[in-house]
Amino acid sequence: MNSSVNEQLDIRKELETITDLPTLPHVIVQLMSYLDEPDVEFKRIAQIIQEDPPLVAQMLKIVNSGFYGLPNSIDDLHQALVILGLDEIQTIVFADSVYSIFYNIHENDFFDYQLFWQHSIGTARLGYALASLATLPQKRTVYTAGLLHDIGRLVIQLYFPEHYRHIFAIAHEHQLDLLTAEVSHLNFTHTEAGYWIAEKWNLPDTLKDVILNHHNLDEETITTNPINTFIHIANEFARLWGNTLEVTPVTISIENTELWHHITDTYPSLKSLQVKDLIQFVDLRMEEADAFVQKLKQTRTDE
Ligand SMILES: [Fe+2]
Ligand SMILES: [Fe+2]
Repeated sequence: MNSSVNEQLDIRKELETITDLPTLPHVIVQLMSYLDEPDVEFKRIAQIIQEDPPLVAQMLKIVNSGFYGLPNSIDDLHQALVILGLDEIQTIVFADSVYSIFYNIHENDFFDYQLFWQHSIGTARLGYALASLATLPQKRTVYTAGLLHDIGRLVIQLYFPEHYRHIFAIAHEHQLDLLTAEVSHLNFTHTEAGYWIAEKWNLPDTLKDVILNHHNLDEETITTNPINTFIHIANEFARLWGNTLEVTPVTISIENTELWHHITDTYPSLKSLQVKDLIQFVDLRMEEADAFVQKLKQTRTDE
């Protein structure tokens, strides 16, 4: 079941030979750094998005899709942005610019993009909600990190779809989670693949750290990179909730672990969350994510 050392080296080597790497759209780069600022204004966001006319069209289409029940159709971007709100603006921008780079390139029977989106958006929403509860100043970056944390899965799926086919098969056959199956088949994981593209795209160090380390949070990181802490928790709860690419049920919960004690010692306001509240909390955030994916899918199929 284990791959050879040569095969492992090949994956890293093959990545380095890729020349047609998709570029990160300029609008994303600008928006990411702007959303980190303390007083975010819709007017400035509109100016940034205006540079990308297809994205403007997509925003207006979603706001006028009937989902918001508006009496009149909206043709002003600024007004549309105010109605959508920051979460949805960010999700649409990333869905349109980043996910669409990978979307439909290798449509196949084993990699379910819809589940991938649901999990990413759910992790972003949940991470943001928990970071808000903990009054973390960088909660908007937590949302971005949630959307991007598993981007390496798209990289492997884009460049090595046959390897992912094997990874899913191994996960099924041996009842493994996908990360373990990635290690088992390639000794190369979606976290490394994500880090590779994050470096190429010059993403900020905080995001690179989340992409590489969201599965291995250690005690030190809880204080040095709080964003990774919130994504780690959100990712665990989102996996537990379901709607992930995982082929085996996720049963381990973070709230009984030593790590959870360290987290709640660092962010005492999280202690107020009882397990039953947490389940309800996760349910709500994941249902929102689900509804939003449906909405995005609907506007895509209308095209
Ligand atoms: Fe992951
Ligand atoms: Fe994840």
